[in-house]
Formats: sequence, structure tokens, C-alpha cells
Amino acid sequence: MKAGIPLGMALWVFWALASLASAQESCSVKEQCSDCIQTPGCLWCSKPKEGSPTSSHCVPDTSQLQSFCDAQHIENPQNDVKVVQNDPLSDVSKDVRQTVRIIQLAPQRLRLKLRKGKTQHISVTYRQVKDYPVDLYYLMDLSNSMLDDKENLAKLGSKLADTMRNLTTQFKLGFGSFVDKVLMPFADTAEEKLQRPCSGCAPPYSYRNDLPLDSDPSKFTAKVLGAPISGNMDAPEGGFDALMQAMVCKEQIGWRDTVRRIIVFSTDAKFHHAGDGRLAGIVQPNDEQCHLDKDGVYNDFDKYDYPSVAQINKIAQREEINVIFAVSGYPDLYESLSKMIEASSFGVLDANSANVVELVKEQYERITSKIKLSDNLTDTSPVTISYSSKCHGTQDVATSECGNMKEGSEVVFDLDVTAIECPADGKPFFIEVKTLQDKLILEVEFDCSCGCETTDRVDNSTSCHLQGALVCGVCSCYPGFRGDRCQCSTSGFHELNEDESQCIMPGDAYACSNQGYCSCGACVCDSPDFVNGKYCQCNRRLCSNGNDKECSGHGTCDCGKCKCKPGYEGQFCECEDDSKCRELGKQEVCSGHGECKCGKCRCTQSDNVHYSGQYCEDCQSCSTGKCSKFRDCVQCQHFGTGVLDKEECNKCEIKPQPVDFLDDKILNNARLCTFEDTDTGCYFNFTYLYMDNGKYSIYVLREQQCPEAAPVLGIVFGLVAAIVAIGLLTLLIWKLLTTIHDRREYAKFEDERRKAQWNTDGNPLYRPATNTFKNPAFAQQAQ
Ligand SMILES: *[C@@H]1O[C@H](CO)[C@@H](O)[C@H](O)[C@H]1NC(C)=O
Ligand SMILES: *[C@@H]1O[C@H](CO)[C@@H](O)[C@H](O)[C@H]1NC(C)=O
Ligand SMILES: *[C@@H]1O[C@H](CO)[C@@H](O)[C@H](O)[C@H]1NC(C)=O
Ligand SMILES: *[C@@H]1O[C@H](CO)[C@@H](O)[C@H](O)[C@H]1NC(C)=O
Repeated sequence: MKAGIPLGMALWVFWALASLASAQESCSVKEQCSDCIQTPGCLWCSKPKEGSPTSSHCVPDTSQLQSFCDAQHIENPQNDVKVVQNDPLSDVSKDVRQTVRIIQLAPQRLRLKLRKGKTQHISVTYRQVKDYPVDLYYLMDLSNSMLDDKENLAKLGSKLADTMRNLTTQFKLGFGSFVDKVLMPFADTAEEKLQRPCSGCAPPYSYRNDLPLDSDPSKFTAKVLGAPISGNMDAPEGGFDALMQAMVCKEQIGWRDTVRRIIVFSTDAKFHHAGDGRLAGIVQPNDEQCHLDKDGVYNDFDKYDYPSVAQINKIAQREEINVIFAVSGYPDLYESLSKMIEASSFGVLDANSANVVELVKEQYERITSKIKLSDNLTDTSPVTISYSSKCHGTQDVATSECGNMKEGSEVVFDLDVTAIECPADGKPFFIEVKTLQDKLILEVEFDCSCGCETTDRVDNSTSCHLQGALVCGVCSCYPGFRGDRCQCSTSGFHELNEDESQCIMPGDAYACSNQGYCSCGACVCDSPDFVNGKYCQCNRRLCSNGNDKECSGHGTCDCGKCKCKPGYEGQFCECEDDSKCRELGKQEVCSGHGECKCGKCRCTQSDNVHYSGQYCEDCQSCSTGKCSKFRDCVQCQHFGTGVLDKEECNKCEIKPQPVDFLDDKILNNARLCTFEDTDTGCYFNFTYLYMDNGKYSIYVLREQQCPEAAPVLGIVFGLVAAIVAIGLLTLLIWKLLTTIHDRREYAKFEDERRKAQWNTDGNPLYRPATNTFKNPAFAQQAQ
């Protein structure tokens, strides 16, 4: 802990200094009193004392700064609240019927003077009175299926009234019924069905106000009993038409002024809504107006479409009506509907509405146990309000709503009101904060201008060179003048007065290069993003070519000229430099056969010489061409051979230089040519090089290279001898092989012959050609 305190202190001091510095900054840039006081935390001093710590009149609002400015010269408006109306809350213990007006919210009217950005805190007290009057209008679906519900409601009518009267003595009950638009396809419009849509049914109708609000419950019972059931055709009913009429027909229904208004909407079916009317050809949207005739019947159902959910919600809020949906069918549908309609609630009726009294009581208590403050501010309002309340607890909560309200409960709401802007018209702004019929009106005035702007004003002030008014201690220049003493003119670039001479660049005719104006000896450039320099002489636009990047992204703009990064050149650094034009390891740009343009070689193209290649190192067209062009001259001049005779040889333009060998120095870049000298049968080499002066330098190898003479006869004899020798050898081998083979075959024959042991005169395979057969029968005959 002990270590923590110095550290915390240091941090706090640092924070305080930092925030002071930033406040100082945001204040000091304000040049006018009204701008200054519209900045939270700043004050204006019209006449700073000698030795003031800052030259600005707008300074942060801190206590020690007051020492350099007399109080009468300080403009530092504060918020102000005036109570216009604050009638006391109604006494809970007294019967409110004796009270002329019931007051549950105090105060009722405040006049606020707000400085922009400075929050004003106000407190509002709400106390729930006993016996707050209640108007309850029972709106019932009387289509055929609701017959038993109707009978039950008639039975329970007096009980409902009694129960409500137990909650509030000033209770009024009304009754209305609805079926649907009497149009195809919602109702059957056949003649007999129009008279009697179902057995025992009355003709169909849209909505009828059967009983305006009345304090006699017996009338309710009688009216409910007497209301005839009717019928329609499709399943959904026209309840929204009825709901709209019941809400907007204030007089016919008999809604009182200071009262809690409740409509119980009871049905067992779905509802038609905006758009469904088109089925019957109705295109006009619901006009949210009352159209009941003198009998309380809605007859204009055929002119206007059903209202939308949004319209119902809007009107329910405007008329401050709580709708209780008491339904015996489609609970999910009505539950979500009640979520879309502000301050409505929802409960499920038994099939025959036997629980209607409990349901209404329960929903009533739910509605009245909650209080909510709301205001009519919008997103564009110049004022914001934030609410908080302890409600019944001890902790402040950011809410505009408190539950658990009972008779006599009192809650306090804290409102933080802030002006977030100064309306241009400067008129007061009205805000309504309300709950039920209780309202708090806030009249907001905006403190956006300084008093000294009217009281402390000297026109044609000498302090302002007679070219402005001295207002709140500073010059407010007349049109055409500027500067803190209105000493500078804003007009005329070409009008040379003494002041502007300092704004003219030597050698230029115009002040500020005609790209700005001269303000008290210094140039103020027209578009500082592009134009700068002491005389606005630098224009960054000159550093880019068309829509390209500044200096093509390869350099920086220095007063309208590109400074290129290494490797780039050109006006807009758009070119790579000549390092790309040099063959690796060579000094010459483009091999000496071209010039480097924007990182690319442009090769020499002249005189039948066409260099090509990335570095102009190649000359396809000239390689053979020149070699053979120079061949004859080289041959005759140097070797005295070839096709040219002496006379022609003298005409040769070239002078080849003989060398002993072609070294690298000669070969570098030069073209090497090799030809056979047909006269000698030898070869000769020479080089040529295209020179910058358009001439050729030619070197020729002094000696021809002759192939050594080969021994032709020897080769021929050798060849013949070799062929004969190979032939003889082949014959010899063949003879040898056949002899060996013959010998083997003979030996085998001899061997076989020796093995043959048969008789030479009795060939075992031999059979004599004659045979003797004996006839046994003949032999017997002969005996
Ligand atoms: C009205 O209140 C009294 C006393 O609190 C009670 O006896 C009576 O039953 C209540 N009546 C109804 C209809 O709730
Ligand atoms: C709010 O209500 C007040 C008082 O009824 C009214 O004068 C003012 O115009 C309303 N403001 C808006 C934005 O509707
Ligand atoms: C200021 O001076 C101009 C001309 O000198 C004159 O026309 C104008 O009326 C003067 N204004 C006041 C308020 O004196
Ligand atoms: C002459 O040129 C040929 C090929 O062009 C080369 O093979 C030969 O070595 C050269 N002779 C000399 C002496 O440079």
C-alpha cells in the first residue's frame, strides 16, 4: 500500500498534466468566442492581463487561470435550470375523486439553459396515487363461435365491474363488438346470407360500439346479453378495424382525460391486417381516423384497408391505451403480437371465457405495477437524455422503468440532459417526458453565443486596421480582409501592394506563383496537399505523368522534380538506368552497337548493318555477309591468291593487318571469319570489327593452316593387302572347320558299321515273294 501511493500520485499528476495539455490545445485553436464556449472545458477571456501565459483568448477552465483575466472579461456560461411549474403530488391518503387534477409526476415544467456538451442533472419524482381512474373497454369478437363466451361474459360482467371497482373506485366499463368487413371474400354477400349468415344470427357488420364507457355495470351486462351473434365466411376476423376505431373515436367511446385506458381484445380467431383488404378490392390504406356513424357503427369498412400492426402500435402509444389480448385461440400468434405493441399484454381465456375476470385483474395489475418514463426525442434532436433510478432499491440503475409499483409507491428518476449541438435557428427546444397522462415539459435554451459578442463590439476598430470589428477582444474582419489584425487582404493575386512583394518569387510576376494568396507576407497555398514551397512554387502534380504514381513509385518529388532512386532515371523516374543495357561483366553499353533507352538497347540499324539481341551483341545479317565480302580482298591482299586479280585487289577499301595470332583483345566483340583458300587447299582466319567511325578494323592471321598431306598409295596397298589377307584367313578357317567335321562323320560311320552284327545273306527283314498254303479238305479226300 505504502509503495502504491507515490506511484498512484505520480500517475495522477501525469494524467492531470496530460489532460490539461490536450484541453489547452483544443481551446487555443478557437479564434471566436462562440466557438470557444461551444467547446467543453474552455473559457474566453476578452482582455487578458499583461503577462498572460498564452496568446490565445480561449483557454482551459482552470482556477489559477482566472488570475490573468478579470472576472468581467470572462465568458464561461454555466447551465441553468428554472422551475416553471411544480405542483405538489396528489396526496395518496385522500380520495382522488375530490381532487380537481391528479398529479403523479413532479415537477411539471422546467426551463433549462444548456451549454453545449455540459450535462445538466435533474430529478423527477413519481408517486402512484390510490384510485387512479380506469376506463376499460371490452372489445369482443361476436362471430358464431363466440356464443358461449358471450354468455359467460354477460354473466361475469357485474363481477368484472366489482373486481375492478375494488381496485379503483372511478371505474368505467364499455363494450364493443366486431365481426368482419361485409365484403366478399370476408363475408358471404348473397342476399339471404346478408340477412342471416347462420341460424339464429344477426346480419353481419364490421364494428359496433355497443356501450360507450359507463360507470353502471348493469348496462354492460344488458348490452352484452343483447348483442346478437353474427357470422362471416373466412376464418380470420376484422378485429383490427374495430381496435383502430375504438382507439381513435375518443368522444364516441367516451375516453376520459386523466385516466388509465385499457382495451380488452377478446377473440378466438386470427386477425386480418393491412394488405388483406385488397382481396375485396380496397387499396386505400387505413387513415387512422374515426368513422363511426351516430349509432356507433363503422360503415366505412369498404373504403379503408385493415390497419397494420405498426399503425395499431403507433395509435396505442399516442392515445396511451393498454391493450390486453384475451384470446381463446392462437395464443402464440397473439403473444408475439403483444410484443410488437408497446404496453400491451396477453392472456389465455378458457374456451368459454370463464376466467375473464381473473385474466383482466391479473393483466391490470401487471400493467399498473410498472411505470416507465418516455420522451419524444429523436435521433436528430440536439439534446439527449439518459435516465437512471434507484427504483425501490439502493443502487442507481440506468433505466427509465420501475416495477413493483403499488398505491402510494414513490420513485425518483434522475435525468441527465445534454445539449449535443447548437441548433442553427437558436430557438428553444421542447421535450416531453411522460408516463400515462403525467408530463414533464422541458424548455431547452441553448447557450451557444457569448454575451460580449453584442455588448463588447467596436466597429471600424483601429486595432483592426479599420478593416474589421473588435469583438470580444479579437478582430472580426470585414469581407476581403484577414489576419489577426485584419491587416491582410484576401483579394487580388495580381494586385501588387507592399505586403505582397514578399510573396513573389524572384523572377516571377505573380504573388505565390499564382497558386495561392499572400497573407501578411507569407504565401497560403491553394491546395496545400499538392502545392507547397515558400512561394507555392512547388507543384507535386508535376511529378506524375497522367494518372501514374508520383515519380512512377521510383523516386521522391522534390519541389515538382523527381529525384529517382538508384537504378532509375527519366523525368518521372519511369526508366531503368543503363545498367540493364550492359552485358554482364562488360563495360560497353549495348555492346557498342546501340544506345540505351529506358533500360533497353536500341541497336544500330544502318548501312546493311543490323545489330540485334538484348545487348546488340548479334549481327545475323552481317556475320556471313561481311566475312564473304571481305574474303576476296583479304585473300588477294595478304595471300596473293583468290579470284581477284592485281588490279581489282588494289581497289579494295580495307587494309587488313596481319597478326601472328588472334588474341582475346582482337577477338573481343569482333567477328571471326574462316575460309578455305582453294588455290592452296589451306584455311585462313581473319576478324573484323565495326568501328564507331563507320570503318572496319580487320586483322588477319599471318599463316594459313594447311591440312598435312596423307600417304594415299600406302593406304591403298595396305587396304588391298588387308582385304586379301582377311580373305585368305577366312578360307583357311573354313577349310579347317569342314575337314574336322568330315573326319568326325566318317569315324561315326565306321563305328556304326562295326556294330552291325546281322547275317549278310539272311536279311531279317526279307520275306520271299512266294507262299505255300495247304487245303485240309482236299487232303481228306485224297486219303
Ligand atoms: C372486493 O374487496 C373486498 C374486500 O377487500 C372483498 O371482500 C371482495 O370479495 C372483493 N370483491 C371482488 C369482486 O373481488
Ligand atoms: C415533443 O413534445 C413537445 C411538447 O408536446 C413538443 O412541443 C415538441 O415539438 C415535441 N418534439 C418532437 C420532436 O416531437
Ligand atoms: C465603418 O467605416 C465605413 C467606411 O469607412 C463606413 O461606411 C461604415 O458605416 C462604418 N461602420 C460603422 C459601424 O461605423
Ligand atoms: C581459325 O578458325 C577456325 C574456326 O573458325 C578455328 O577452328 C581455328 O582454330 C582458327 N585458327 C587459328 C590459328 O586461330
